[in-house]
Amino acid sequence: MKINFAAQSMPTTGALVFGVAQDAGLTGAAADADKAAGGAIAKALSASRFTGKAHQTLTLLAPAGVEASRIMLYGLGKPDEISPRFIEEAGGKIYAALAQSGETDVAVWMDKTEGSPVDPATGAAHLGLGALLRGYRFDKYKTTLTDDDKPSLGSVTLLVEDVDGAEQAFEPLNAIAGGVFLSRDVVSEPPNVLYPASMAERAQSLTALGVEVEVLGEKEMEELGFGALLGVGQGSRRESKTIVMRWNGGNTGDAPICFVGKGVTFDTGGISIKPAAGMEDMKWDMGGSGTVLGLMHAVAARKAKANVVGLIGMAENMPDGNAQRPGDVVTSYSGQTIEIINTDAEGRLVLADVLWYAQEKYKPKAMIDLATLTGAIIIGLGHEYAGLYGTDDDLVANIISAGEETGEKMWRMPLDKGYDKQIDSDIADVKNTGGRPGGSITAAMFLKRFTNDTPWAHIDIAGMAWSTKDQATTPKGATAFAVRALDRLVANHYED
Ligand code: BES
Ligand code: MN
Ligand code: ZN
Repeated sequence: MKINFAAQSMPTTGALVFGVAQDAGLTGAAADADKAAGGAIAKALSASRFTGKAHQTLTLLAPAGVEASRIMLYGLGKPDEISPRFIEEAGGKIYAALAQSGETDVAVWMDKTEGSPVDPATGAAHLGLGALLRGYRFDKYKTTLTDDDKPSLGSVTLLVEDVDGAEQAFEPLNAIAGGVFLSRDVVSEPPNVLYPASMAERAQSLTALGVEVEVLGEKEMEELGFGALLGVGQGSRRESKTIVMRWNGGNTGDAPICFVGKGVTFDTGGISIKPAAGMEDMKWDMGGSGTVLGLMHAVAARKAKANVVGLIGMAENMPDGNAQRPGDVVTSYSGQTIEIINTDAEGRLVLADVLWYAQEKYKPKAMIDLATLTGAIIIGLGHEYAGLYGTDDDLVANIISAGEETGEKMWRMPLDKGYDKQIDSDIADVKNTGGRPGGSITAAMFLKRFTNDTPWAHIDIAGMAWSTKDQATTPKGATAFAVRALDRLVANHYED
């Protein structure tokens, strides 16, 4: 799908969209088009329930007097409530409404809306981003698609006075979209295709953007003493990997910000095996690593002026004669011993070693991990908010507000010493499950023991990494949750 920016003149073909503020009627170019159509647009408006409420639409097919093949009015709601995110959602919804319509191009007229805090050039860029993000498809394994099954819409054109300004504003957004797509791609791949070594190959492709990529195999991790991570992968035929991606866009010697991702490329539960129904979903148990990979693409592609390190722990959790058992005690890279109570609580084991490695090796300003860590967070927050934990109030507040900007909602959960006793072990330093009560919280308390007091946040994305429904800027499937929010966090707080 192509996003174009062009000067404002009435298009001679395709669909044409005008924004209409709530109860404001037709103004500017929409009023001109209505005049050319002999008042047909205003007549249709008054015959309908369209008032310009946020995201309301009204479509007219082939109105006489205008050359466009269809006119869509798009409700902008109250102008002072318009935000870049609102405009992205509009872009996504316009794309979705016309994708299969037979139209090949849609032009969106971007006028200054009185009272809107968003200028038209910025608005055009965000509208383009929203459409681009919604237009994502993962159909490489569908071999019988015909042209009729595919979207007719091939481009979205933003008609804007300041074409240069809009193109400039779009450039970094387009880079971020590339990161979102990379993330969605790896999470969508089936688990026979996407496993630790093939994830490492995808990560290697970031070297083209200037990212340094380092891959630790099982031998290197044994030498380092990654007993927790290696235990998870020991029942798998696939070699476990830790992948480190470094973007050095900031000053040499400045401490980086580290992002750590859970990359369990398939989670059967191991010996504590999961039920069969729905187990195929566990291909996306590497969603945290997918977000970190996409984020690294985004910051590199837009040349962020910051030092950013992404570290992803990759393993496959399988039952096998060599698999880890409930009752095993492993020694983590930190030196702390862990009693394995349930081999299905494997994500925290992977993260334990990678978090310790990140803080020890990079002495980061802050460290943020993402993981599809617990079913319990889905019980608590459903599919609207990710669970956010953190030891630093400013870091947590900054993550939440970055997410508000990008439409990725996160809700702070408690990290409280009181929960700690649930994971104290009789035989080792800590055990890997804390029972059902507060299951997402005790998982976070477990991770906290491996952060060594580095300012840290943890995002449990189990309810957010995959969507079974289309959303405004995310078609159903892999969401790339928090790629955009964390890119915003870097832009807002870690760039010079
Ligand atoms: N990957 C799962 C968590 C998960 C469940 C993600 C459903 C997405 C959808 C994780 O490894 C897991 O199995 N967690 C267990 C922990 C329990 C054994 C303490 C869980 O949440 O049930
Ligand atoms: Mn599990
Ligand atoms: Zn898991």
